[in-house]
Amino acid sequence: MQATVRKLSINMKGKKGVIILGSARGDGNTRKIVNMIRANHKNLHFINLCEKKIGYFDYEFRNQDDDFIPLMSEILEYEVLIFATPVYWYSMSGILKNFFDRITDLLEIRKDLGRRLNGKTMMSISCGSNAEILDSFSIPFSETAKYLKMNYWGHTHTWINAGKIPVEVELQLEKFLIKLR
Ligand SMILES: Cc1cc2nc3c(=O)[nH]c(=O)nc-3n(C[C@H](O)[C@H](O)[C@H](O)COP(=O)(O)O)c2cc1C
Repeated sequence: MQATVRKLSINMKGKKGVIILGSARGDGNTRKIVNMIRANHKNLHFINLCEKKIGYFDYEFRNQDDDFIPLMSEILEYEVLIFATPVYWYSMSGILKNFFDRITDLLEIRKDLGRRLNGKTMMSISCGSNAEILDSFSIPFSETAKYLKMNYWGHTHTWINAGKIPVEVELQLEKFLIKLR
């Protein structure tokens, strides 16, 4: 069945939003989901984490001169942060988890930036190989948002079937985005 083209709407209450892709490939399944969302929300800025050089968290902050701090400065220009990640071994991707680990830098050596996360909004989207997703998947997002005193606007799970976004997923995404109003 051909998916009906629907106008998805994100009401960010006038806030600027950014969608942050955490896939190990820039043109994979999660990117398809991101592309569909962006096609309907042209003002949504896009960041592809796999194009950035972001080292692992280091207690001595030896990676502080990599792309992370400049990238965070860019992200902090936005009020709504939407993380889109594939499901890799029941969890967010390693690339995205690494990004989350590095937020620790903002609590230690760049508190000026860390404080600016306070009051921003987080959302999360997963993309797996099928409809199954464990309830635990979204916990790192919701708890991180809580810890950072961010608002959490929820999680939705998607998947790709034979290279296409199933109608069911499209409807689900639409509902998820409408919920933001
Ligand atoms: C390393 C790896 C681990 C995966 N683990 C899971 C999993 O635990 N559950 C699942 O449903 N799919 C799993 N998959 C399938 C991916 O979630 C799925 O193909 C996804 O749509 C890939 O998105 P991408 O093209 O953006 O990487 C895994 C794929 C990879 C490469």
